Amino acid sequence: MFARPLPSFVPDETPDHPDALFVAWLGEAIAAGVVEPHAMTLSTVDADGLPDARVLILKDVDDRGWQFATSATSAKGRQIAARPAAALGFYWREQGRQVRVRGTVAALDPQTSADDFRARPDDSRVASLASTQSEVLPDPADLERALTASAATIAADPDTPSPDHTVYAVTPVAVEFWQGDATRRHVRLRYRRDGDVWQKELLWP
Ligand SMILES: Cc1cc2nc3c(=O)[nH]c(=O)nc-3n(C[C@H](O)[C@H](O)[C@H](O)COP(=O)(O)O)c2cc1C
Repeated sequence: MFARPLPSFVPDETPDHPDALFVAWLGEAIAAGVVEPHAMTLSTVDADGLPDARVLILKDVDDRGWQFATSATSAKGRQIAARPAAALGFYWREQGRQVRVRGTVAALDPQTSADDFRARPDDSRVASLASTQSEVLPDPADLERALTASAATIAADPDTPSPDHTVYAVTPVAVEFWQGDATRRHVRLRYRRDGDVWQKELLWP
């Protein structure tokens, strides 16, 4: 495994804040031709403690946290409401890199979600308005009917809001950067939040 040219990773030369290293790695992933490097696995737990996971798009990383958008009434939305904790995982195969994030998760303010919805392309808003995401779909024709109805709604009023569309942000307590190596000398650097500062520590691979 990893018998291909991989980037080097020197933990001594990393920034103090994990967000800065993530943004640098994301730029390197884009330059390396990684397809959809902003696709990530979001893990949550339900009210019974049973884990769940699915792929989402990372929208942004800033002072408010690592952000994604989804429906508040979806399975994940309900899980977050019951247990506001989450993990994110990225795998960039071309570079043998993995990033793991653990933290708390909360919805951003309603205006941010409304603005995000309004900024989406028409087909995205139509699909979002039509869907009761994660509910059982008894008949595919129901989806077609809902899409037709929501397309008419958006055509009549392009500013139609979506009450469920929500931007969430994960506030990390730990972020790990993992660089694979053909000789199994994988490098693991974990940033751990310690009050107002981030502690950096190497982990055994
Ligand atoms: C590459 C990719 C990107 C996706 N991006 C999103 C997204 O940004 N938001 C979203 O709600 N679902 C997204 N999905 C669909 C989710 O994986 C999932 O099917 C959906 O959100 C329902 O999840 P839930 O039933 O656990 O709530 C994406 C799927 C893939 C494969």
